[in-house]
Formats: sequence, C-alpha cells, structure tokens
Amino acid sequence: IIDTGIFRSGSIWAPPYGGTYFHHPTGRCSDGRLIVDFYAQALGLPLLPPSGPEEKTGKFPTGANFAVLGSIALSPDYYSKRYNFSMSHWCLDWELGSFKTVLARIAPGKAATKRLLSESLIVFGEIGGNDYNFWFYDRQRSRDTPYKFMPDVIARIGSGVQEVINLGAKTILVPGNF
Ligand SMILES: *[C@@H]1O[C@H](CO)[C@@H](O)[C@H](O)[C@H]1NC(C)=O
Repeated sequence: IIDTGIFRSGSIWAPPYGGTYFHHPTGRCSDGRLIVDFYAQALGLPLLPPSGPEEKTGKFPTGANFAVLGSIALSPDYYSKRYNFSMSHWCLDWELGSFKTVLARIAPGKAATKRLLSESLIVFGEIGGNDYNFWFYDRQRSRDTPYKFMPDVIARIGSGVQEVINLGAKTILVPGNF
C-alpha cells in the first residue's frame, strides 16, 4: 500500500517484484506501483523514497516515506498484555519515532520543523488494517474481539494525527481502511 522499500534485502529484491512498471525490484511488495505512488503521480509529485536506508544521512528534499510493510497501529505490547497475542510487527509508535528522528536532523528546532511540515503534504496511513488482518488470520480466535480493540486502534490513529498537527502539519490525508 505505502512502503516503497524500507527493507534492503529479502525476496522483494528478486523478480517478479518491480517487473511491470519499474522493470527492476525496488523494495516494493508489488510487481507495479503502490497506492502511494498513484497519489504522488496524480498530484504531480516525485515518488517517495523510503526513509529507512538513509535515516541517518538522507536530506529527503522531495519527501520521505516512513511506512514499514505489515505495520500495526497499536503496539505489540498492547496485544500481548491485553490479549496474550503475539504481534511481532512494526507499529505506528516506531514509525512516528523515525519520522521525528529524521525531522530533528533535517529541520532542527521547533520553528524549522513547523515551517517544513506546514508546507508538506502528510499522508497518514492507511494504518490499522493489519491490526484486524493479523487477528483474523487465525480462525481459532474470536471474531468478536476486534470490536473491543477497534476503538483503541481508531484512537491511536487520531492521536498520531494530532501529534503531527502539533509539530506543524497543516495538510494531512488520512486514508480509511479497506
Ligand atoms: C498465551 O498464549 C500462549 C501461546 O499461544 C499459551 O500457551 C498460553 O497458555 C496463553 N496464556 C494465557 C494466560 O492464556
């Protein structure tokens, strides 16, 4: 959906990944473009580079992408403590942490961060779908339980959006789950 190549190795770096559009693997989990690539092209913006490989050095003059494939909105800790459910995936907390780390380096200080974000488009998600996917993959698990954690998933997405607003973001796209 969004991750444009945060992991530098794995089967995503071999055909057929990348085959139909880029004509070589790019680290995307697709043979073609991702949803976020279509957003960029429709808006006349450059395609987003993944932040991960250059988190410590990249300048990201035309945007950066903090998405990590398979991420969940709530933390793995949340699921293990409340539901004894092991979710060993990246989560929104860690993605926002990486976002703030890069911001502190490329736009240090509150004013600079605010200026950069106020003139940026923030695409916040889609995130949260995997919180339900991973639960439902195991057919033994109760189909009613996700209704219990759904308000927390939604609240976490909302508080995350509020965090980037507080940092200075003004234009934010929050895609829904499909
Ligand atoms: C937690 O899950 C593990 C493995 O799925 C299981 O062996 C264990 O009994 C569970 N613990 C509780 C308290 O339900």
